[in-house]
Amino acid sequence: MAKLDTTYLGLQLKNPIVAASSGLTDNIKSIKELAANGAAAVVLKSIFEEEITLEYESLLNEAEQLGYHDENMDYFDYQIRDKNLNRYLDLIKDAKEAVDIPIIPSINCHTSHEWTYFAKKFEEAGADAIELNLFLSPSKSAIEAADIEERYFTIIKNILHECSIPISLKISPYFTNLGHIIRKFDESGVSGIVMFNRFFSPDIDIEKLEISSSFTFSTPTEIALSMRWIATMARRVNCDLAATTGIHDGEAVVKQLLAGANVVQLASCLYQNGSEHIPTLIDFLNNWMDQKGFNNLNHFRGLLSQVASSNSAMYDRVQFMKYFSGKF
Ligand SMILES: Cc1cc2nc3c(=O)[nH]c(=O)nc-3n(C[C@H](O)[C@H](O)[C@H](O)COP(=O)(O)O)c2cc1C
Repeated sequence: MAKLDTTYLGLQLKNPIVAASSGLTDNIKSIKELAANGAAAVVLKSIFEEEITLEYESLLNEAEQLGYHDENMDYFDYQIRDKNLNRYLDLIKDAKEAVDIPIIPSINCHTSHEWTYFAKKFEEAGADAIELNLFLSPSKSAIEAADIEERYFTIIKNILHECSIPISLKISPYFTNLGHIIRKFDESGVSGIVMFNRFFSPDIDIEKLEISSSFTFSTPTEIALSMRWIATMARRVNCDLAATTGIHDGEAVVKQLLAGANVVQLASCLYQNGSEHIPTLIDFLNNWMDQKGFNNLNHFRGLLSQVASSNSAMYDRVQFMKYFSGKF
């Protein structure tokens, strides 16, 4: 039987299957199910920066009315313990007690405000690492790309200053020069990069003539974008790479490992098939490795990355013209 253990963010994982941040990772019952079915780590549902800052601001106001100074910081902390943030800290603590796999809380953030202070609290609650779900929307045409990028680095710098546990960065593909910024993220000191987040997307209801919500779950073909970029960046950056979006079956897991991912993060396929889907992915990976004669993941991880592949130009090819000429 092949060995499936791997490392991610300096953590020892028994296999490369990680439960991605989602509604499935916001309660102990389902975290236990994920762990029992073989998930090697769990990224908790994101706490939103606003949940922290709004609470912080209201508590700060309260504390100011009390004559806020160091002595009543205890009161301040006490208040925090009772609110939203405390529920999240409890989730971290309870998850750590309930399962014996790494627990990675996630912060959804877009500013570098005081909330980074609370990241320290995640660490104190027992978090094994923190995932920053960092997205500054590139839809504001008045802001220059360089200014948006600078904000990313300010946030990263602040959080690295606060925490001593590993930090990973879950990013979108919406950057002017993606390869360059991924290298800069790597140099910033984060331990891992998760590619790519899949956002809520609005739909259009043509009957009601309304904007609606749809596209909740990914489809297997959506693997293409993250696979290309995992393959493009693998062995070019020092930090770990996690692949997410569109990974629905064992074949997709194998592809992302061949591209160079350290782990895969799953959400949609777990919603659709239950956490019992994880053993089928692990079985597929095991059988495939046995068939190919690979004893452990390092024997083939990144074998088809751009750096390692003999056909590396395929990852740079973007136009269909030549491939399909004469066929259509
Ligand atoms: C219902 C739902 C809730 C999600 N919530 C979060 C979240 O709170 N934070 C986050 O970083 N990603 C969140 N995600 C994104 C997933 O973590 C994952 O990156 C994305 O769905 C792509 O993976 P998939 O193709 O396996 O679904 C959510 C996804 C779904 C479907």
